Amino acid sequence: MNFKIKKILSNKNKKSLICLTAYSKNISKILDKYCDIILVGDSLANVVYGMKNTHKITLRTMIDHAKSVKLGVKNSLLVVDMPKGTYKNRSIALKNAKKIIKLTRCDSIKIENNSKNFSIIKNLTKSGIPVMGHIGFTPQYKKKFTPIVYSKKEEKKLMNDANKIEEAGAFSMVIECVPESISKKITKSLKIPTIGIGASKFCDGQILVTDDLLGLSGFYPRFVKKYANLKKLIEISIQKYKKDVLNKKFPNKKNSF
Ligand code: KIV
Repeated sequence: MNFKIKKILSNKNKKSLICLTAYSKNISKILDKYCDIILVGDSLANVVYGMKNTHKITLRTMIDHAKSVKLGVKNSLLVVDMPKGTYKNRSIALKNAKKIIKLTRCDSIKIENNSKNFSIIKNLTKSGIPVMGHIGFTPQYKKKFTPIVYSKKEEKKLMNDANKIEEAGAFSMVIECVPESISKKITKSLKIPTIGIGASKFCDGQILVTDDLLGLSGFYPRFVKKYANLKKLIEISIQKYKKDVLNKKFPNKKNSF
């Protein structure tokens, strides 16, 4: 087993795992100093390509961005999302997962749960492909962002799905937008680490979309904490640049040849 995955597994009940998304090298190089896991999420579709959901992002685009991200990653575990439609059955999933790993040199792929793909995950893990699961709110199977309200029956189904994903050999699992009481129970019942997004501090780690926490994306649901306002900072810098160019203050002698 990949030593980075062993390290992630050994963290269960110890230190909280720090996880963030990246879509390119300049950001991944910074994140690599601080993160246990860097995810090339298919949120790329919304955040970078302005799509209304993640349903149409292609494998090619995910691979191209993952290659760029990999250039900045040395220490973190690099996970790449398998886009919708690329893991329809066991053989398609295996072919595409192998392609992602070969072309991007990432450590693992992530698959969103649709309560039907446990055998697909099992086939991947048996073939030596490390898999991160993803339960709760799964954007690939939803039209828009609406956190789910859980009845007792749905809670039981979610617990059951989490167990089946673990049994299928996944080494970790994202839990998205799930009430605290349920994510706490799931985290306790699993041996593999859970990574929460809108799923409480009781998960074994936390993940956010980096553009959201930096205040760049304009998407700030309740589970996002904005740690910076980069949008503002960029605007101020561009305004200064514009002013300097208009006033012939840039480029000056130092910037010229
Ligand atoms: O696509 C993504 O960025 C994700 C994270 C939000 C977990 O799946």
